[in-house]
Amino acid sequence: MSFRKSIVAVALLSAMIAGSASIAQAQSVADTIAARQAGFKKTGENAGAIKKALDAGADLKTVAANAQEIADWGKKIPTMVPAGSGPESGVKTRALPAIWADKADFDKKAADLSAAATTLVAALNGTDKAAAGAAFQALGGACAACHRTYRTQQ
Ligand code: HEC
Repeated sequence: MSFRKSIVAVALLSAMIAGSASIAQAQSVADTIAARQAGFKKTGENAGAIKKALDAGADLKTVAANAQEIADWGKKIPTMVPAGSGPESGVKTRALPAIWADKADFDKKAADLSAAATTLVAALNGTDKAAAGAAFQALGGACAACHRTYRTQQ
């Protein structure tokens, strides 16, 4: 291969690599946002199942695992908002740019959620229904505290 030809080959190859890298990146941002929304959707379902059991006066131990799932999700939230996964990604998302303006505060709200859910797990496994109700209220407060600042209203 002549020197000139090999330069062209290298240029073509690097253009191809750059192109596929940005496609891969776009896909992974869309995947991350989809996984994030699925995680929150599941959280909503878990909270709904706990509320139903509380309202029905059911055996609360049956929904302790739902609260544990929320606690585990709370630990994962900070990793589900990589830079570039906000509205600027072009993907439909309710995540607000405020998340990246104060990521430390957002992460704290996620940790608060996890802590509230862990308290709820203990209460659901206990015998004090009033304590379980109060712990569920506190969990709802942790959801609202984050949504107020970091999620679009619609
Ligand atoms: C640390 C912040 C934070 C906490 C805490 C939090 N959320 Fe969210 N939630 C978000 C953000 C941000 C979105 C938007 C995600 C997106 O669209 O990319 C969201 C989206 C949702 C959605 C919509 C999911 C969908 O279908 O797209 C539901 C339902 C939801 N949250 C429920 C809850 C519940 C219930 C709790 C508490 C048990 C909770 N969230 C706690 C930040 C939070």
